[in-house]
Amino acid sequence: MSGANTTNIPAEKLVQVTFEPEGKTVKFEYGTMPYDHHGKPMSFLDVAENFDIFLDHACGGSCACTTCHIWVKEGDSGISVADDDELDRLDMAADQQLNSRLGCQAVITKPGNYVVEIPKWNRNYTSEGKPLTLAEGK
Ligand code: FES
Repeated sequence: MSGANTTNIPAEKLVQVTFEPEGKTVKFEYGTMPYDHHGKPMSFLDVAENFDIFLDHACGGSCACTTCHIWVKEGDSGISVADDDELDRLDMAADQQLNSRLGCQAVITKPGNYVVEIPKWNRNYTSEGKPLTLAEGK
């Protein structure tokens, strides 16, 4: 879906998601993204998989690991509230912060602008899903 034409998307239906620290931004029309069968539909993992952005998901998106841990920097009010299963799992995540979520469980519920950061232990990969060692400090 990475080549999707975004010029005709009405502003009120536009979803824009930026994945930090790479600063890669993807855009699509709310309600049109196909489900990639990873995590909950419209979760950040689902978005990442649709656009070939690497977000680790060792358990396949079933809330059974913490490898999809993300920090929500912007757009929190448009994201589903974490349920008890997610909160219990997040307690096991390294570097847990107030804005921590599981990428496979946090669902985008409306159009808008979202910024999430992938913690550094998940950053040793390119945006195309192939392993790559990045220089320290990126
Ligand atoms: S991929 Fe395992 S909890 Fe999200």
